Amino acid sequence: MSSTSLLGIVGCGLMGRGIAQIAIQGGIPVILHDSRPGGAEEARTAIAATLQKLADKGKIGAQDVADACARLSVAASLSDLAPCTTVVEAIVEKLDVKQELFRQLEAVVGPDCILATNTSSLSVTAIAAACKAPGRVAGFHFFSPVPLMKIVEVIAGPLTDASVADQLVAIARQMKHTPVRASDTPGFIVNHAGRGYLTESLRILGESIAPHPEVDRILRQAAGFRMGPFELLDLTGLDVSQPVMESIYDQYYQEPRFRPSPIARQRLAAGLLGRKSQRGFYRYEDGQKQDVA
Ligand code: NAI
Repeated sequence: MSSTSLLGIVGCGLMGRGIAQIAIQGGIPVILHDSRPGGAEEARTAIAATLQKLADKGKIGAQDVADACARLSVAASLSDLAPCTTVVEAIVEKLDVKQELFRQLEAVVGPDCILATNTSSLSVTAIAAACKAPGRVAGFHFFSPVPLMKIVEVIAGPLTDASVADQLVAIARQMKHTPVRASDTPGFIVNHAGRGYLTESLRILGESIAPHPEVDRILRQAAGFRMGPFELLDLTGLDVSQPVMESIYDQYYQEPRFRPSPIARQRLAAGLLGRKSQRGFYRYEDGQKQDVA
């Protein structure tokens, strides 16, 4: 990004905070906005605390913290994003809410501003189609936790201008992330391939082939995955992953290989979300995994 670049981030939850952190650490000035009053300010405080922790551990210097924090500002109103050259959206995963936000953004930002969505499972093209200038819309799909998962999918739909994807690739590199280009298809690359890992593991459990700790152990140790599928489901949270599974299944016209598991749906209804509810496939105490739920 050039010295006149300014990145707007709308939605300052888990993902928005992570994206803001790597942007300011990469030298990109950021304005945060959240529809929840006080949400953006809270995010700014949390990001500053995270950077300070990194400095306390000696991973970055005190000057790096000061420089990064100086690049971070907060917008009370969406209209304060008018000077942005790129806006990344990381709000709730609902198509109509995202489409409405993109319509509002178009009325605020300049004609050359890129509008990017961090959606995991919605159609980038459907979001773009709600815009007057769909060519400026692309997917910019990060993974959690953003500062540690140093890879990002750059998604171009049939309406996306080639230069927009190129600019997002450059921004990703400035954030010290590796961009991977993909076309706009349900789940892109990771959430498409990842369906097999999760839904087949849920089927293995459903068919009583093996208990889930055994499935996790063997996939880690024999297949070389960093996390077992049930550990991954607990980390992401069923409130996030189940809608992704259902969305991809629907977008592929109920193709059987993507069929979500009734086990996951039932556990979601029971509130067994994973780490965030202290109980998922495993139990957690003070963030530490206990033996077996
Ligand atoms: P989150 O719930 O932690 O944060 C969402 C934030 O957006 C909240 O602070 C909320 O107040 C705000 N918000 C909601 N509607 C808004 C609106 N209309 N305008 C402004 N702010 C609004 O959610 P999270 O996990 O950060 O996810 C955000 C997006 O990133 C979703 O689209 C999700 O699918 C996607 N994503 C999530 C991943 C994850 O592991 N959590 C991974 C990759 C993508």
